[in-house]
Amino acid sequence: MSKLYVIGTGPGDLNWLTPAAKQAIEQSTDLVAYGLYLRLLGELTEGKTCHEQDLGEEISRARNALDLAASGKTTSLISSGDIGIFAMATLVFELLDTSPKAEWSNVDIEVLPGISAMQAAASRVGAPLGHDFCAISLSDLLTPWETIEKRITCAAQGDFVISFYNPVSKKRDWQLQKAKDILLTCRPASTPVILGRNITRETEAITITTLEALDPTQVDMLTLVMIGNSESKVLTVTPEGKPSKKWVYTPRGYSKKLV
Ligand SMILES: C[S@@+](CC[C@H](N)C(=O)[O-])C[C@H]1O[C@@H](n2cnc3c(N)ncnc32)[C@H](O)[C@@H]1O
Repeated sequence: MSKLYVIGTGPGDLNWLTPAAKQAIEQSTDLVAYGLYLRLLGELTEGKTCHEQDLGEEISRARNALDLAASGKTTSLISSGDIGIFAMATLVFELLDTSPKAEWSNVDIEVLPGISAMQAAASRVGAPLGHDFCAISLSDLLTPWETIEKRITCAAQGDFVISFYNPVSKKRDWQLQKAKDILLTCRPASTPVILGRNITRETEAITITTLEALDPTQVDMLTLVMIGNSESKVLTVTPEGKPSKKWVYTPRGYSKKLV
């Protein structure tokens, strides 16, 4: 049976690629991905036929991967982070469901997860996802803004830690400000906010700020924006003779037991 691996390669650094994903890439003859993701794989792409497709060509990328696998080539369809989170895996199943080709039913599909941007960002600052959380994409290219706004409002009222993916792009510059305004109606101005840009990549930058000080003009499409819940805290630890380090965590309630 022909094989299609649907792979999340993590946030960028190859040390964060799972061994299972690495093995699947090694076993593939053909790799299908947006160019940046192929470049991040470095030497792992050597000797493979790379099918590089631009952003915005997601449907043809997923079709191409299914066609290549159906033709007998062991193929990997690749996204960064987790391919099941705001990425290509769902499109593969949507195509199989709504516009299938007969030959695709013979493809053995295996989905391999990766470390998502929100997990990578959380790990850099401590444990902000320690209690109930959700992820919301601010891209209204495929989802109506009314739906996104409703979800932000419910998440704000439910006091979830929120990870905003796709917060800003060249064509979408107002959604993050709107999200901030909604959150400020339910959450303290001092709520911790984490901006993780290009996490694990060469130009990584992590900023810890507050909801009130969050400046959407400082955010771009390579940034993950995480808003703490009403109990999230910033903790400063100063090791002897070393500079202070700021951590962010969201308590789970153990303090009642720590007496
Ligand atoms: C189309 S979504 C893909 C998410 C990806 N599948 C994941 O699980 O991380 C793209 C958004 O993910 C976030 N993102 C992905 N990789 C990132 C990284 N290395 N550093 C910061 N944010 C990242 C950004 O918010 C970006 O706009």
